Amino acid sequence: MARAASALDYRELARRRLPHFLFEYIDGGSYDEVTLRRNRTDLQDVALRQRVLRDVSAIDTSATLLGRAVRMPVALAPIGLAGLAARRGEVQAARAAEAAGVPFTLSTVSACSLGEVTAGVNAPIWFQLYMVRDRGFLRDLLAQAREAGCDALIFTVDMAVPGSRYRDVRSGLAGASGPLGAARRTFQAMQRPGWAWDVGVRGRPHQLGNVAPLLAGRTGLDDFFRCMRENFDPSVTWRDLEFVRNEWPGPLVIKGLLDADDARAAADLGAQGIVVSNHGGRQLDGVLSTAAALPAITGAVGDRLTVFADGGVRSGLDVVRMLALGADGVLLGRAWAYALAAAGQRGVTHLLNLLESEMRVAMALTGVTRIGEIGPDVLARP
Ligand code: FNR
Repeated sequence: MARAASALDYRELARRRLPHFLFEYIDGGSYDEVTLRRNRTDLQDVALRQRVLRDVSAIDTSATLLGRAVRMPVALAPIGLAGLAARRGEVQAARAAEAAGVPFTLSTVSACSLGEVTAGVNAPIWFQLYMVRDRGFLRDLLAQAREAGCDALIFTVDMAVPGSRYRDVRSGLAGASGPLGAARRTFQAMQRPGWAWDVGVRGRPHQLGNVAPLLAGRTGLDDFFRCMRENFDPSVTWRDLEFVRNEWPGPLVIKGLLDADDARAAADLGAQGIVVSNHGGRQLDGVLSTAAALPAITGAVGDRLTVFADGGVRSGLDVVRMLALGADGVLLGRAWAYALAAAGQRGVTHLLNLLESEMRVAMALTGVTRIGEIGPDVLARP
């Protein structure tokens, strides 16, 4: 494998390694991908202040997130079907996160089940929940998450209905259902023999982990997307969050907020955290980037709960930018999925090491030595 110098190198390596439909699924956003691009450009436009002649010989990137000591204030975001990027992929990524001293979040719609992932690591993981119609299923899932020792629940609320992803239609992942869609995907997989052997053959079984009971024995990707459309519950309101609150006694983080009023509602409900997120530009296209939305939200609730942010983070500099805009912690999305696709656990480990060293440089050159010192003060245009 060519050596990756940055998260964006891993994107290129992932493009060469994955079947077309899978790369497009990970890489793409919704509609015209305006928000997907904004997440990146707005974050890159955040100018840091260059400071000199301060003693930056001892940099400390450690922090505490939801009561857990972490090596840096970063966690792996939930990525549905990430387990298809590499053989038993979520287990590999969770191991890399554990070794790097940061939390791993398992999606409701992971390829590997909660049991398989937690059996593969010693550190607790975070579990991400989507609200589906069947409350009995949800109750069981939350019980499994508790029994598996998950130490935070990330409840995603920006998926009341799915945004349209044109790339998935073009690639044959969505839209072309039945034998034709499956044939297109098989053809694309055959053009990536490394993946086909490692994941397609040796990575079996492909059971779509936690939602298998909803799929009633069906295992095709078509079945999976249809099942998600049928089972996601668009009628959920803040009142339904009481259900989750009652079923989940541990730290609760509401993911997918972009508005200060919604952030206040989450704080009023007693959530321990929120994730300022637009689902990586995969839901309502044209909404604000997270970098643009973040300062108003931290201004509204930053002193009441832990504020995480995600969207477009591809380097340690980006992590520092999000922290400077007021986040307490940062979730990495596509970046880890690319690294996993390119080089499995080793790739995710390397990516996290890169991120940490880039953070150290950014901290040294902005003149700060501790995470708590990163704030509006390090912004050139606060
Ligand atoms: C996601 N995201 C996501 N979020 C979630 O709560 N549950 C999920 O299952 C998924 N699945 C998923 C799949 C893929 C392929 C992507 C790219 C994203 C959103 C994810 O957690 C995070 O919010 C974004 O990925 C952050 O943006 P970046 O870092 O990818 O730009």
